[in-house]
Amino acid sequence: MQPLDGDEFLLDTPVVRGFVAAVRESIAAAVSADDACESIRPRFAELLADRACLPARFRESAPEGGMGGGIGQWLLFRAGDRSLSLFSLVVPPGSETPVHNHLAWGLVGLYQGTQDEEIYAEHDGALELTESRAPRPGDFYALIPPRDDIHRVRTTSPASSISIHLLTNDTGCVWRHTFDPESGERQPFRSGYVNVACTDP
Ligand SMILES: [Fe+2]
Repeated sequence: MQPLDGDEFLLDTPVVRGFVAAVRESIAAAVSADDACESIRPRFAELLADRACLPARFRESAPEGGMGGGIGQWLLFRAGDRSLSLFSLVVPPGSETPVHNHLAWGLVGLYQGTQDEEIYAEHDGALELTESRAPRPGDFYALIPPRDDIHRVRTTSPASSISIHLLTNDTGCVWRHTFDPESGERQPFRSGYVNVACTDP
């Protein structure tokens, strides 16, 4: 991926800037992805608990969103070298994502609403359902591929669910995959962001 002209703060607030700076310090000091996630945890928990950090425009569904189902993927921040992104994922009531992967490690947590989440492992081209979870607001986990990399989320609350993702790639613009959970067949997939175009081929 081509580097950008610089860091992009689509949500340019002291909270987001402070969070990103702390994350970068954690990553620089960490000896592994596990170690970095462990060190980022307290700041991520704080962000999920901050009811004011996400303005209304980043909580909207998106009829034309690349995930389908009216799902809105809103970029809050991405690093100029595309090595880090922070975004909200707004899944309307009754809607669900396709089964998909992320191809980078990071932290994913629920900010609003409730979800059912199904996690899959891939073995020899077939998918195996390994875990089902029902996260509540404030719940989050470290996603370290291949562990937890393939999942599907479905909103179970009467209002949209909103999760916040911190991942070590430019997730919306990376070519990744959706999967047919029955056959395990994968398709190339790029979700995009509602508020930023992907200019890479
Ligand atoms: Fe996901």
